[in-house]
Amino acid sequence: MPFGGGHRHCFGAAFAGYEMTIVLGTLLKRYESELQESQEVVPKRRSVTMGPSSDIPVVVRTRY
Ligand code: HEM
Repeated sequence: MPFGGGHRHCFGAAFAGYEMTIVLGTLLKRYESELQESQEVVPKRRSVTMGPSSDIPVVVRTRY
């Protein structure tokens, strides 16, 4: 859906997916994160997707 459809479908969709896999994998390998405070995360619908209903402070640390 984010790449459009029909004859105007994104030319770089496969490349963008490949990039995202590498970026996400690199970030997860190098960093870890946890909630700053133990709080319930309430989901909220955002257009066609879901997200948290408010800001969620997290602490990000380098993995050793
Ligand atoms: C997350 C990354 C990307 C998103 C969300 C995205 C999204 C889109 C969308 C929605 C369209 C359709 C626009 C329309 O209907 O007029 C489009 C078209 C296009 N995108 Fe992407 N794109 C991304 C990455 C890329 C990359 C990395 C490339 C090139 C390497 C690229 C090249 C193109 C081209 C050339 C078109 C025009 C296709 C055509 O009209 O025939 N995009 N993109």
